[in-house]
Amino acid sequence: MIDKQVRDLIQKEEERQNLVVSLIPSENFASEEVKMALGSCLTNKYAEGYPGRRYYQGNKFIDEIENLAIERGKKVLGVEHLNVQPYSGSPANSAIQMALLERGDKICGLKLSAGGHLTHGHPKITFSGKFFESVQYNVEEDGRIDYDKLEELVMQEKPKMIMAGTTAYPYILDFKRFGEIADKVGAWLVADVSHIIGLIVGGVHPSPVDYVHLIMSTTHKSLRGPRGAFIGVTKKGLEKDPKLAEKIDKAVFPGMQGGPHENNIAALAVAFAEADTQEFRDYSKQVLKNAAVLAETLKKNGLRVFGTENHLMVVDVGKERGKEMAVKLEENGIVCNANTIPHEQGSPLKPSGIRIGTPAMTTKGWTEKEFEELGNRIAKIVKG
Ligand SMILES: Cc1ncc(COP(=O)(O)O)c(C=O)c1O
Repeated sequence: MIDKQVRDLIQKEEERQNLVVSLIPSENFASEEVKMALGSCLTNKYAEGYPGRRYYQGNKFIDEIENLAIERGKKVLGVEHLNVQPYSGSPANSAIQMALLERGDKICGLKLSAGGHLTHGHPKITFSGKFFESVQYNVEEDGRIDYDKLEELVMQEKPKMIMAGTTAYPYILDFKRFGEIADKVGAWLVADVSHIIGLIVGGVHPSPVDYVHLIMSTTHKSLRGPRGAFIGVTKKGLEKDPKLAEKIDKAVFPGMQGGPHENNIAALAVAFAEADTQEFRDYSKQVLKNAAVLAETLKKNGLRVFGTENHLMVVDVGKERGKEMAVKLEENGIVCNANTIPHEQGSPLKPSGIRIGTPAMTTKGWTEKEFEELGNRIAKIVKG
């Protein structure tokens, strides 16, 4: 049977992706090799457990594939232990929290409206905000984290876990300082590098590995891999708790998940190999150059821009006008997302900014010239 309905829709989506200027900073274009692994026969196989310790027979090649992903990942990340089974970023963070926290323990993360992520203790509606006591830090008027204030908060609240990671933060994260602060109260420090993993592996953003206990990341953003995630245990993590790797593995399976998606894991092995090349390091440099030019062009056109020192920026488009502007830009073939700005005066549903980034169009071969032209176009549309 040929499912024409689904095929047609996939084809239309492919055409859309080829046509538009894609500026959502968490999106990218995976290689044909990554997509080949994703769409392979590996989707047919159950493999509950870990390599060499499976609950099902028939996993000889699956074990080789998962071990390959682990070894390649450990090499590019520089971690002691790697779990490549989390289905995605949110389950990975839930597994970490489940492994190391008890119900009611304190967790400290960056506020969602300041560029943090839901899974970092966003109150009331999320797993991390419902099951743990959440203490959130903020950014300053200029959009930056004030590490002295963070230290004050941590000393006062003594959280058991600190999440160092962001989803809309356009500046370099000072992981060394995060490490010093966490150590003062003996807190677990988790680097969620979902957005910047490609920049770290590409050598254009400092790595957190020496300063944190765990490093986790999604694999489908700047890394250009399949939708998925990993959790890495560092040397510092094992020094704090020699059983940390075991605890993380147990929390992922059987704690949070059942059978791993081995097609994703194979695609991740491919993505790690692709990232361990000069070509990827050059790509990462270009992502940063392009973002810098785009931000400067928007600023020259009189827009208030937060950033950038990485692959993304947040642009103030007027009080509560973020969604309206994102829609207007899409009508002009430019796809981004509405976003809160630091110290937002609107609401998360009616934010005042847009978030834009360069990883996807850099994959398509865009350089400074195209991004300067694009910046002028965006400014024209935003200013009406
Ligand atoms: C910093 C950060 N952590 C976690 C996640 C969650 O990842 P997923 O959407 O794969 O669950 C995201 C996704 O946007 C993110 O930006």
